[in-house]
Amino acid sequence: MRALASAPGKVILFGEHFVVEDQPAVAVAISLRARVRAELTGDSVIRVSSRNLKATGKYSIPPAEEKDPLYPVAYAAYLAMNKAGETRGVNIEVDSEIPPGAGMGSSAAVAVATVAATAGALGLELSLDEVSKLALESEKIVHGKPSGIDNTIATFGGAIAYRKSEGFVKLNVDFSDLVLVLADTGKPRNTGELVKRVLTLKAAFPSVFEPLYYAAGRLAVEAAKLMERGDWEAVGSLMNVNHGLLSAIGVSTLELENLVYSARRAGALGAKLTGAGGGGFIVALCKKGEETTVVQELERASPRVLVSGVSERGVIVEAKS
Ligand code: PMV
Repeated sequence: MRALASAPGKVILFGEHFVVEDQPAVAVAISLRARVRAELTGDSVIRVSSRNLKATGKYSIPPAEEKDPLYPVAYAAYLAMNKAGETRGVNIEVDSEIPPGAGMGSSAAVAVATVAATAGALGLELSLDEVSKLALESEKIVHGKPSGIDNTIATFGGAIAYRKSEGFVKLNVDFSDLVLVLADTGKPRNTGELVKRVLTLKAAFPSVFEPLYYAAGRLAVEAAKLMERGDWEAVGSLMNVNHGLLSAIGVSTLELENLVYSARRAGALGAKLTGAGGGGFIVALCKKGEETTVVQELERASPRVLVSGVSERGVIVEAKS
């Protein structure tokens, strides 16, 4: 039995890092997707291959912990198998359009699609909540203390406001007149290390950091309301403020600043780093039809510029046999 499932990447529009310490954040699903094929075998091992990473791995059931990048994928498959009481083997093939390690939730999208594809191949019915929860367990391997926002948006799609202690609400937003322009610094970074670095700084200066966290949380709540109202000029302004707060907690870089200022100069409504920072991508919000200048300007400084809409589609089992 086999199944193919896909899940979207994400862009955090408001609140990354602050969300780890239970402040509200806002994320949207993008059109780039991770696709995972799962096929049952009879040999009691989990095999994982990734087209993008050009890597393969073979794991026992349960998989023994390893530091290689495919282990979390094997673990995600195992979690679905365990739920079904399944001990036969499974082959997992990953093929993702989402750039890895860039702040677009590639690992979460792969984990969500892996859980859904494995469950599909096993004939196991999982609710979306269950898919998201199992993927979060795999995300904990990827970066120690995930907030849960990545697996939630990869599972449910669209736009969400998320808070660790409260879960998420879907936002009712019309994105039809807008595009997101995403520009890469070309610098890889490690989410787990950046999260740790920020938390260490916060622990050293709690009285300085607490008000920043509070402000970021209020900002995300305000921004969610403005998005639902369609006040995109104001949403753009708050993206700029959010970028300032992320710079304040130390996760911006010269390359990120250059891209953010280029996008604003070229007419974006707002621009900020997205995800963990330290490298990776910026996101600029543009009115549809007005993005060309922003794209051209960013292409002068960035090795990779992508234009995306917001995707309503969360995880989908695309085929089962
Ligand atoms: O850069 P990414 O896609 O790994 O996103 C990280 C977002 C953080 O808020 C920094 C961490 C988290 O778990 O929410």
